Amino acid sequence: MILVTGGAGFIGSNFILDWCNLSDEQIINIDKLTYAGNLMNLSSITQSDQYKFYKVDISNNELILEILKKHKPRAVINFAAESHVDRSIHGPRDFVNTNIMGTFELLEAVHSYWTNLHDSKKGEFKFMHISTDEVYGSLLKQDPSFTETNQYKPNSPYSATKAASDHLVRAFHKTYQLPVIISNCSNNYGPYQFPEKLIPLTINNILKDKKIPVYGSGLQIRDWLYVNDHCDALRVILKEGKIGETYNIGGLNEKANIDVISMICSKMDKQISANKESSSKNLITYVQDRAGHDKRYSVDISKISKSLNWQPKESFESGIDKTIKWYLDNQYWVDSVMTGDYIEWMKKNYSKIS
Ligand code: NAD
Ligand code: DAU
Repeated sequence: MILVTGGAGFIGSNFILDWCNLSDEQIINIDKLTYAGNLMNLSSITQSDQYKFYKVDISNNELILEILKKHKPRAVINFAAESHVDRSIHGPRDFVNTNIMGTFELLEAVHSYWTNLHDSKKGEFKFMHISTDEVYGSLLKQDPSFTETNQYKPNSPYSATKAASDHLVRAFHKTYQLPVIISNCSNNYGPYQFPEKLIPLTINNILKDKKIPVYGSGLQIRDWLYVNDHCDALRVILKEGKIGETYNIGGLNEKANIDVISMICSKMDKQISANKESSSKNLITYVQDRAGHDKRYSVDISKISKSLNWQPKESFESGIDKTIKWYLDNQYWVDSVMTGDYIEWMKKNYSKIS
């Protein structure tokens, strides 16, 4: 059995769904269910014996320790976090509370659980911490990609709190020998991403005929990774990753924001042209830049490719096609997470599944 935190969010729910498709091993999901956590994502497995959900904050170390002692997972994967840079600029407190204090309390619980495991189980256990390439700061166009040895230089409250959490995880390994692995990943995209992030926001705004806000010049570069490729990398790290190591995960798909948006506009114009009078590109609207906006992220994946033989499989072209199709087929999902219907849905369904 393994336990994940933040499994009702974008990457966590994709990870759980993939896990249940590919393995028979049980999986427990601990999630506080913030605005970004949506149990609807997991409705296909809610009734399965393979899956169990607890609505718990990672800061509640007593309850988490109880859950760990009860289920005895062989690994914990920490996805739970406040994840949106813009929200961190407008209100950093939740980011400090969850990403720093929450990770600390979770580490305390996991450390206590691990310390009391039988030696044979102790050696098998892994704590995986899911982090971001944003901890390395911002690159110029000509700079080499981030490697695992780059200095941490976070620029937003979000990335600063993720950096702090990475340091705590590392310290629990160095000081208490807790068997940890950290992964630092680039921008994910795919199904179930909350429509506040660039790609789902662009798709949704085109569907709703709303303006597409481009921050500043639109020339900032991100490295895009299809979410199922990320989940695949995490399964490989869980199986073969070396304790105490950090692995960068990237998609080998560096693109300027404006190119991503233009590509989505062109593709969607072909698919929904019957309902449209003009090109979606007319919706593109340049707005004030994000404060402290990082110019470029680029991830060197040599370490994970060479040592664990992992490479992303999805091209940006194929990944974006799948993503657009998913959002077109699941407009009810977007509407319900945006209007708060999903909170009502959870209230109705929560009693059946907790
Ligand atoms: P998300 O915002 O979609 O989901 C976060 C989940 O964590 C939600 O289900 C939320 O309810 C839960 N959560 C928040 N605070 C919690 C708390 N205190 N206790 C328990 N649960 C809590 O995020 P995501 O995009 O799925 O990202 C998952 C992880 O991956 C995060 O740690 C993020 O920093 C990291 N990451 C994300 C990306 C990306 O592009 N999305 C890239 C690299 C790394
Ligand atoms: O790099 C990994 C990170 O990627 C993760 O750690 C974060 O959790 C995740 O949210 C993401 O951060 P970004 O800030 O890069 O993602 P976002 O989708 O918010 O923005 C992508 C780029 O698009 C960024 O340069 C800002 C720009 N942008 C974003 C939005 C929402 C716009 O130009 N307009 C927008 O409306």
